[in-house]
Amino acid sequence: MGLGIAYVAANVTRLPVVLMDINKDQTDKGIQFMNKLLEKDVGKNKITAEHAQVTRELVSTTNSLTGLSDVDFIIEAASENLNIKTAIFRDLDSICKSDAILASNTSSISITKIAAATKKADQVIGMHFMNPVPVMKLVEIIPGLQTSTAVLDQTRTLAEAMGKTCTVVKDIPGFVANRLLMPYINEAVMLLESEFASAEDIDTTMKLGTNMPMGPLTLADFIGLDTCLAIMKVLYENTGDSKYRPCVLLQKFVDAGWLGKKSGRGIYSYK
Ligand code: CAA
Repeated sequence: MGLGIAYVAANVTRLPVVLMDINKDQTDKGIQFMNKLLEKDVGKNKITAEHAQVTRELVSTTNSLTGLSDVDFIIEAASENLNIKTAIFRDLDSICKSDAILASNTSSISITKIAAATKKADQVIGMHFMNPVPVMKLVEIIPGLQTSTAVLDQTRTLAEAMGKTCTVVKDIPGFVANRLLMPYINEAVMLLESEFASAEDIDTTMKLGTNMPMGPLTLADFIGLDTCLAIMKVLYENTGDSKYRPCVLLQKFVDAGWLGKKSGRGIYSYK
C-alpha cells in the first residue's frame, strides 16, 4: 500500500516523495510497479509521457528511516502490528523534523496508542487509505486523543489534494471501514467453515445479489488473510465483545501460510 500512496502523492498531487522500506528489493519492486502503472496510463491516454516522466522524477527511495529526516509529512504503512508501528514512530520522532506530521495508514490500531510512542502526540494522526490506493476514492482520517486541529486540517488538505474524499472518524477499534467490513468477511469465512455453502457460492451471492465488486472471500484474499485476522483480533481484544471473535478457519489459513493472493494461496488458489 505504501507504493500506492507514494504513487498517488507524486502522480496526482505533484509532490516530491521519498519511498522508504528497510528492504531494497521492496523499494526496487515498488519503482517497477509504479513504472508499469505509468506506462498503462500513458497507453490509455490518461496522462502524457511528460507527466509520467515528472512523476518518476518526483519519487526517490531510501532504505533507512534516516532518509526521512527532511520530509514534512510521513505516511507509515508497515505491517498491521502494534509493536512494529510503535518502534517505527519512536524512531521517526527522533529522526524527523520537529514540525513533521506523522501519519499512520493503520487499518485498526489505536492512533492514540501509536502516538504515545512519540513526544509529539499532537502531530500524530491516522490516514487510512483503501486498496488499491490509486483506484479507491476514500481516506478515513482518524485524529488521536491529542491530535491538534491544525494537524487534522493539514491532513485533510493533503488527502483532498491526492484526489480523495475524506471521512473523519474517532479513534475507535477498526474505525468505520473495518468495523463494518471485517465482521462481514469473518462471517463469510464462518459460513465456509460450517460448509453451509461453497466459497464460490458465498462470493457469487454477494457479488450478484448485492452488487459488490468482489465477493467477501475474494476480497479477503485480496486484502490478505493475515491482515483480516489481525484486524479481527484488534476488534475482539479492544472491545471484549464476542461478536468480533475471529473465525478459527481464518486463523488456520494464516497458520498454514495461506495469506491470500500475495502468497499464491488463500481461500482460493492463485497458482
Ligand atoms: N493498482 C492500481 N490500479 C489498479 C490496481 C492496483 N493494484 N488494481 C486494479 N487497478 C485499476 C486497473 O488498472 C483499472 O484501471 P483502468 O480503469 O484505468 O484500466 C481499474 O483499476 C479497474 O481494474 P480491472 O478492470 O482490472 O478490475 P475491476 O473492474 O474488477 O476492478 C477493483 C478491480 C478496483 C480492485 C475492484 O474489484 C474493487 O473495487 N474491489 C473491491 C476493492 C475494495 O473493497 N477495497 C477495499 C479493501 S479494504 C481496505 O483496503 C482497507 C483495509 O484496511 C483492509
